[in-house]
Amino acid sequence: MSRKIVILGTGGTIAGTGPAGSGSYTAAQLTAEQLVGSIPALQNAAGGGLLVQEVARIDSKDMTHAVWQWLAQRCLAHLADGTVGGIVITHGTDTLEETAWLLHELLPADKPVVLTCAMRPATALSPDGPQNLLDAVTLAAHPEAHGVLVVAAGVVHGAREVTKVHPQRLDAFASPDGGPLGWVQGGEVRWAHATAPQPAAPRCGALLLEPAFMAPQWPRVEIILSHAGSDGALVDWLVAGGVRGIVVAATGNGTLHEALQAALRRAVSAGVTVRLASRCGEGRISPVTDQPWRDAGGLSPVKARISLMLELMQASDSFGARPDGLSG
Ligand code: SIN
Repeated sequence: MSRKIVILGTGGTIAGTGPAGSGSYTAAQLTAEQLVGSIPALQNAAGGGLLVQEVARIDSKDMTHAVWQWLAQRCLAHLADGTVGGIVITHGTDTLEETAWLLHELLPADKPVVLTCAMRPATALSPDGPQNLLDAVTLAAHPEAHGVLVVAAGVVHGAREVTKVHPQRLDAFASPDGGPLGWVQGGEVRWAHATAPQPAAPRCGALLLEPAFMAPQWPRVEIILSHAGSDGALVDWLVAGGVRGIVVAATGNGTLHEALQAALRRAVSAGVTVRLASRCGEGRISPVTDQPWRDAGGLSPVKARISLMLELMQASDSFGARPDGLSG
């Protein structure tokens, strides 16, 4: 028997409206029900029916940890329901990759959770949202789909690789190193490899049940960029303000301005956890061996920030150790 697909709305341009035919619009105006109700083909694609819920209605540049808490908890509850086959999340494009990575780190991967979006508002002459949403429901209903996936402009991406690479193009997302996982074309899912991506246990799944995850404040983790003229003053300021973690977007193969590096060493001595990511859009820096910090495992700075927040929560709740394995 076909199981139902849950659609969780969070806003974004896909739910945006503006004067017909004009380029201007406001994101997150339509309710999830209005959005879904305007695309009758979704019912067929879902097979076992649709359940629509609105989790938030925001421009995703304004995403908050509170919305993430609520969204992750809603997903967890729906995934545990035997009558649900998969989840679709409608989302703004601007922070979609962050939400995808957060959910990937937290949620069981035995059923699909598919994020989708649009670059044009619902009132555009030729909106891309309806097709993207139809593709997302098709993907979520596919028997081989597992884990957190993103579909936009017909391309299926994984949560680790997906990144927004263009501010305007309809095909605004890429998976720079791994390439796409597949495509949705004419109502059919085609995987890029011989088999569909296999489910794996989430790294931080247990955290969803811990009080630290639902706490009003998450550990403060900030992103700092190494650039010409860096002086490390921002790092010192953050440490004085109680920051718990810093992700550095380093130059080249993980290099840092010497003044910034000195400030980061002071931060580590003060108990702050530092992770090294790259400001290059592609590739992965070599493992760090001679510094009091680790590399971010190939994650982009925004995704490394999420992983570090989750690790700090785990450390504070039950694991009792610093996430970088260092003492003090
Ligand atoms: C947003 O991220 O919510 C607005 C921009 C978009 O969806 O393209």
